[in-house]
This record gives sequence, C-alpha cells and structure tokens, in this order.
Amino acid sequence: MKIVIARELLTAGLEELDRTHTVLSNGLDCGREQLLESVAGADAIVADPTVSVDEELLEAAGAQLKLVANFAVGHDNVDLDACRARGVVVTNTPDVLTNATAELAVGLTLAAARRITGSERRMRNGEWRGWDPGDFLGFELSGATIGVVGMGRIGRRYAELMSGFGGKLLYWSRSSKPDVESELTAHRAEMKELLTHSDVVSLHLPSSPDTRHLIDADALALMKPSAILVNTGRGAVVDGEALADALEAGTIGGAGLDVYEAEPDVPERLLDAPNTALTPHIGSATHRSRDDMARLVARNVNGVLDGTGAVTPLH
Ligand code: GLV
Repeated sequence: MKIVIARELLTAGLEELDRTHTVLSNGLDCGREQLLESVAGADAIVADPTVSVDEELLEAAGAQLKLVANFAVGHDNVDLDACRARGVVVTNTPDVLTNATAELAVGLTLAAARRITGSERRMRNGEWRGWDPGDFLGFELSGATIGVVGMGRIGRRYAELMSGFGGKLLYWSRSSKPDVESELTAHRAEMKELLTHSDVVSLHLPSSPDTRHLIDADALALMKPSAILVNTGRGAVVDGEALADALEAGTIGGAGLDVYEAEPDVPERLLDAPNTALTPHIGSATHRSRDDMARLVARNVNGVLDGTGAVTPLH
C-alpha cells in the first residue's frame, strides 16, 4: 500500500512505520501542486497543522484512501465531515504532547508576568541603564488568580502545574469537572466572571466556528489592566487586531502567545506590542513529545493499513 507523508515525519515515526508499504515523503517545502500530485493512489496520508486536508486533497488521493493521520492533536486543518463522508478515518496525537504544551504555557505565563522577554529585548537593544527600583515591574503568580479557559487534557495539566504557585484557580469549560475542582481546588466560572477576576487568562481551546474570536475586543475589555493573556491553543481563538489594540492601549498588562491566526505570519503590531512574549508554535516541541507524536502517527497508519484499527481515531 502507499503512504504519503505530506511534508515530513521524524525518524522515530519512520522507524516504526511498516516498511512493507511504499512510503513517499514530500519534504518540508512541498507546495500544494506537488502535494496534490503525490497523494494520487495513497492509502494513507500523514498531515500536519500546515496541511489543509480538504475535498480537493481527498479527491486527488482517490477512493482507495483509508486514513489521514494528523501529526498534531489539533485538527482544524482537516475537514472531518468530508473525510467521514468518504469513509476515511482521521487520527490525531493526543496525550503525548499534553505535558510539553502545558509547560510551555507556564513558561509564557512567567515570561509575561515577570516581563522576561520585554526586559531582555530592552537590554539587548542597549536600553538598560542599570538597576532601577521602579522598572520592569511584574506580578507574582503566588496569590494570583489564574483563569483556565478550556479544561481538556492540556488545560488540566496547566492548572495542575500552576496550582504549585499557590494562586487561586478559576476555569471555564462546557461541562463541569468535579475531579479538577476537588483535586486542584478550582472553581468553575462563567466566561465573564473569569475574564473579570483573573490575573492570568490561559486559553486551551481547539479552533472551531464556536471558538473563533472568543477573545475579542469585548472580552479583552473585561480583563484587568494588569492581567495577561496566554494562548497555546490556536490563534483563531483570539482576535489578533483587538489584542494588539488592548496591548498598545495598556488596557491589559501583557500576553504570552505561541499561536497566531495566519501562521507563519505574525502581525507586526503584536511583534512590537509592549510586554508580549512570543514563541513560534512550539507547544509540543520537545524531543520526547515530538518523537512520541511521530510514533503514534506510525502506529495509527500501521493499524489502519493492517486492519487492526487506529489507536487514536477522531471518528
Ligand atoms: C499542535 O499545534 C498540535 O495541535 O498538536
């Protein structure tokens, strides 16, 4: 059978793929035309968040396509309905990246709360004139109110890690999480209450029509002028222009962002905004997490192609 890797699969995954199949890897710079040509006759496609898996791609692959294995936990790049309609299984890579992503969110929280990247930038620019009692003042996480938006696997791990700082935990989630409430002493809140009371608002939501621009100008206006917004989920959950407005006007205190609406483009205004820690979508970028993701992709491909079934199917 034919496996097409839309861009690249790490060695850990390649080693685990059943090599009795034909494996075609397009490489990181693969353009859309090359991709559409390469998938013709594929039984499995390995995609990633930059690869749009839509009607066009499925059609180019053909009716024998059995699986789209996404090298990510998020799957907003995959048209699930179109896959379902064609009987194509879709898999993602949950769990193995939970801790890595939550730890990055903690890092961005600290970076924004303690002005780590902003102060470093000023020092690198030669703007540090020496110790100043009133400069670079941030806030301590100990005693802060942490608002966790989305209490799935990553939100929960973030809450667990943040509870070590000894602050107060609020969370917003479609369903209540009694275990989180008892184990972490977290309180479920309405979105408005969470935004109003939190010193840190950390987003752990997938991108969907329901979550698009959930954090818009109105939501940002509810946040404290000292509060920081952290986003390690998907860029589309935040209205980037409204966020840049709030940061420039100082109506919120700062932001820690790993994801953006139109990656790899990062709006100039966010790059220049005060007290903003920015990373280039590296939530799951640890050796352990990425290797485990690659192995899980391989196990999903092997399972579907040998008939034993997918390990982590989305449907
Ligand atoms: C990465 O962004 C992922 O969804 O795994």
